[in-house]
Amino acid sequence: MKTILVTGGTGYIGSHTVVELQTSGYDVIIADNLSNSSADVIDKIEQITGKRPIFIKVDLSDSEQAASIFDKYSIDGIINFAAFKAVGESCQKPIEYYRNNLQIALNMLENMKRKGIKYFVQSSSCTVYGEPDSNPINEQCPTKFAVSPYGNTKQMVEDMLHFITQSGEIKAIALRYFNPIGAHSTALIGELPNGVPNNLMPYITQTAAGIRKQLTVFGNDYPTPDGTCIRDYIHVVDLAKAHVVAMDRLFEGRNKKNFEYFNIGTGVGFSVLDIIKSFEKTTGVKLNYVFGQRREGDVVQIWADTSLAENELGWKANMSLDQMTLSAWRWQQQMQKS
Ligand code: UFG
Repeated sequence: MKTILVTGGTGYIGSHTVVELQTSGYDVIIADNLSNSSADVIDKIEQITGKRPIFIKVDLSDSEQAASIFDKYSIDGIINFAAFKAVGESCQKPIEYYRNNLQIALNMLENMKRKGIKYFVQSSSCTVYGEPDSNPINEQCPTKFAVSPYGNTKQMVEDMLHFITQSGEIKAIALRYFNPIGAHSTALIGELPNGVPNNLMPYITQTAAGIRKQLTVFGNDYPTPDGTCIRDYIHVVDLAKAHVVAMDRLFEGRNKKNFEYFNIGTGVGFSVLDIIKSFEKTTGVKLNYVFGQRREGDVVQIWADTSLAENELGWKANMSLDQMTLSAWRWQQQMQKS
């Protein structure tokens, strides 16, 4: 049985990935400082999988705390989710974002080298592409200057991996996520936004639940069919499964280069209005929304060319937009019950 250290494993994508890893036969150690998540998630993961992951509350940006995990446990691979992730906040606190996100990645890689751990999967983002010249966007498209320090940290960790893997001691895969939404079918785990949500899906579910008065659609004068921005929304469980497939690929030595990166999306773009329509249709709840100003820094449209992930990883997203919006709503309702 292989043991995977999942940093940020109590977070939104991390927790869903721990479930998929455990149900695929991996042992999991979660390391998280709970800065944006709750320890209750561990109980929920146990409820879903029948297996309790080891949990360590730790600040992974602190090199001594990080090293202590590697001295105590035998680890075969790492999936690195731990990072600050709010685009807007990263513009207010750029130094904190660089220090935290880069230091965590470096501490993991340094300890991997020290302990001879070979395999690393990095949580990356389609934000590395900036505004695409055309869609769907594939991995050959060059990355552009980042629009936020957050996006820049994703680019910088990919750049670090490019060089750090060159000696062949460490092999890495970066997964460039498009827009993860939705929640586990049990509604036991999901996204737990801190305060007012920045992202569309939690804002929709909180508005429908009466926690927010109304949703503002940021701009309806974009050069898209209905005037609202287009994104490639992907169910978080589909995304979680991509991490298991990536880890398997590394363990089985199927990787073609020491550092590989893949788009993880559905290959289909939906507008903000498409999401609202799907939500209203699947839940039967009428959403209170208005059109407002464009939000600074938003790209107009982006969706993934997923052929590399399909052909190389053998991974493809399965869940529909309606499954995404309905599962997000079930999670919202479940949160309010508890
Ligand atoms: N939107 C609204 N109203 C809201 C929130 C969002 O209209 O209240 C719109 C946005 O303008 C955008 C779309 O919904 O058109 C999606 O916005 P999100 O904030 O949900 O997602 P983003 O595409 O902006 O951000 C996501 C991730 C980031 C990542 C980025 C890369 O959350 O981590 O994709 O493009 F950096």
